[in-house]
Amino acid sequence: MCGIIGFTGAKPAAPMLLEGLRRMEYRGYDSAGIAVQEGTQIRAARASGRLEHLCAMTHDGADYAGTCGIGHTRWATHGAPTECNAHPHLSNDGLFAVVHNGIIENYQPLREELMAKGYTFHSETDTEVVAHLLDMYYDGNLKNAVMKTVARLEGSYSLGVVCAEHPGELVAVRYASPLILGVGVGENYFASDVTALIGHTRTVIYLDDGEFAVLSPEKITIYDCTGAEVKRAPSHIDWTMEAAEKGGYAHFMLKEIMEQPHAVKSAIEPRLKDGRVVLGGLDLSRAQLEDIHSIVITACGSAYHAGCVGRYAIEELCRIPVQVEVASELRYRNPLIDEHTLLIVISQSGETADTIAAMKECKKRGARAIAIVNVVDSTIARLADDVLYTWAGPEIAVATTKGYTTQVAVLTLLAVYMADQLGRISPERYAALVEGITALPERCQRAIDLNSHIDRLARKYHKNSSLFFIGRNLDYAACLEASLKLKEVSYLHSEAYAAGELKHGTIALIEEGRLVVALACYEALFDKMMSNIKEVKARGARVMGVALEGNRRILTEADDAVYVPRTDPLLLPIPEMIPMQLFAYYVAKENGCDIDKPKNLAKSVTVE
Ligand code: AGP
Repeated sequence: MCGIIGFTGAKPAAPMLLEGLRRMEYRGYDSAGIAVQEGTQIRAARASGRLEHLCAMTHDGADYAGTCGIGHTRWATHGAPTECNAHPHLSNDGLFAVVHNGIIENYQPLREELMAKGYTFHSETDTEVVAHLLDMYYDGNLKNAVMKTVARLEGSYSLGVVCAEHPGELVAVRYASPLILGVGVGENYFASDVTALIGHTRTVIYLDDGEFAVLSPEKITIYDCTGAEVKRAPSHIDWTMEAAEKGGYAHFMLKEIMEQPHAVKSAIEPRLKDGRVVLGGLDLSRAQLEDIHSIVITACGSAYHAGCVGRYAIEELCRIPVQVEVASELRYRNPLIDEHTLLIVISQSGETADTIAAMKECKKRGARAIAIVNVVDSTIARLADDVLYTWAGPEIAVATTKGYTTQVAVLTLLAVYMADQLGRISPERYAALVEGITALPERCQRAIDLNSHIDRLARKYHKNSSLFFIGRNLDYAACLEASLKLKEVSYLHSEAYAAGELKHGTIALIEEGRLVVALACYEALFDKMMSNIKEVKARGARVMGVALEGNRRILTEADDAVYVPRTDPLLLPIPEMIPMQLFAYYVAKENGCDIDKPKNLAKSVTVE
């Protein structure tokens, strides 16, 4: 999704803006631009395609001497990814430049109104109305013009604004779209995410929805939508630059796959004390849990898939019905949710628009919301009644890896904690699960040791244009994520199927040479899986079987085997996913794909 950056200080702004945009490239974009105050003017440069084009066009920013400016990477929503549609957008007289993340839903009537007043539009974007509205309302008072403009906007937006008549001043506006202020010494910043700021400052201020800030090199003033000043204490970001860089790996995705033993350890270790699960920040008494009639898990994409895994553990251990629903569907239903519903919201970024909307809808109906989130102080974290951070560290590759496994780890901890509070888990089962969870980082490391074997398999199978992932029970839940991972980075068509469901229609697509990846780690159903493998083999499929270490039977039917380290069945999808992530990665590499920034995808989906 779009990335926004703003800088005001004493040094040239353009190189700093370009560097910030580079750090946000992982969010996904298809054009980029900057606008810098130069004396009494604003100069802008915009380019479609990769950021390198903009860098070349501006000689890495050296063409601009101004010390205050804004920058943007655009992920097209309204209008093609052309130079005209790239941000910043300027008002007709060049007084204002604007960058925007989000969607202005009422841009069409505003556009008509502004055109009737003589404003000329140069783009197809929804954003351009903002530049003209600012111009229309401006009478020398920037703050008033911003407030009047924002009052006209519907939708979701974070905005960055510069005005030629206010040298050294930036305005940042936030409404339902991420925006963070960075506090420096003699310089200040804003950005869509902290990765753009941590090279300069770790002191940040989070704006709430409806707030805006005026930044100068020396000062940041925050206002609410009525114009009243808001006092907000800064927060400290612990993430280091190193953590957000590739550290010698060819791609962020590979680095993040390799980081999983450490990431999972960070997620679980602080929550295991003397053989007990301790969830700081979560205070759910037995009486409160007994009052819960159902649990709803909502999320998008891989986070939804983590929820699909978590459901098995929660239902099995807590005996409370769990419904898992994609947020974009849940938000538009009339869901049966009330004060007896416990809502679990999962999100790596904490900024996914659909997830936020579904969460608000459920909270409105009385549900208590627990968020499982990676990014500290993100919108979802702040909306939640209780937050369980995944502590995975910054995830830069668009395809989530350590985000997913840490979500599953935290969900399992939550399931064990709730089952214990409810008195529904035996001491033996509790101890076995705690032992299994404690051993997860080591199991992840052993799964990573499959690296070169998986690389070989990817070389063997990367030419398949369409493939299937099949499994039962938790293996099926893992298939959903394995298939998405492959699709998003390698662009191959793949489908995840409950193995028993295949014969109800989709088996028609199994033909000579079709690759079927059969996840058969859930040993209680291993024999059933072997029957399903036989069915596809009988129709000519080639099978890559994924089974537990020591289970040689898989090779009686499968063409190749991947052996996953043994663990408690409820924890299986964590080590099991690692070879699947590696498979997706190496297939994408063989096929020459842009692994960290797959086409059409964005890291943080902040629009509906
Ligand atoms: C993951 O690989 C995807 N790119 C995507 O499905 C992602 O999981 C989804 O957009 C949800 O993001 P979130 O976890 O930041 O809310």
